[in-house]
Amino acid sequence: MKLIFATHNAHKVAELNQLLPKSIKLLSLNDIGCHEEIEETGKSLEENSKIKADFIRNKYGLDCFADDSGLEVELLDGAPGVYSARYAGPNKDMEANIQKVWSELDGETNPKAWFRTVFYVYFSGKEYELAGRVEGTIIFEKRGTGGFGYDPIFVPKGYQKTFAELGEDVKNKIGHRAIATQSLLKIVKQNC
Ligand code: IMP
Repeated sequence: MKLIFATHNAHKVAELNQLLPKSIKLLSLNDIGCHEEIEETGKSLEENSKIKADFIRNKYGLDCFADDSGLEVELLDGAPGVYSARYAGPNKDMEANIQKVWSELDGETNPKAWFRTVFYVYFSGKEYELAGRVEGTIIFEKRGTGGFGYDPIFVPKGYQKTFAELGEDVKNKIGHRAIATQSLLKIVKQNC
């Protein structure tokens, strides 16, 4: 059975392929010859993941899913959220994005934040919206060299270190994408 992951990111596809049962063949957009950039014009993670999944579903009529993720800060009413990659401008400058989060928070003590992922899934004749979330706090210095994005300023609840210090093993257990992936696995296993 084939399932298309509506992403050009081969790393994301390889990671998920290891978790899925062998009976499922996960394909990226490149694998199916789709080289278009699907525009993320939605105003929420939910809208963007659905836009990407719908694009593939409508064009190819195949089982597929798409993801969208972001950092949501409670005191900033959920910003940067769906705009996480471009918070400080269109060129996706992570250093500027982090500086903007700090400046908006203006030295607040232990500001609460969470990473959230949404998967929109078309599988075996049904559709699903799945979510994963990991809570923590923002710190006002960058710590650690692992991970990407906002990882160096995010300390997950129950830990003293940032995601960038804790590394992939911890993220793969408690991270937002890992949690959404577990829900996807359940659906796939129920239907195989
Ligand atoms: P995407 O939807 O996975 O491409 O994520 C969009 C943006 O959200 C990224 O460019 C990052 O800025 C931020 N983000 C998403 N997931 C993570 C994460 O696990 N760590 C740090 N930043 C993240």
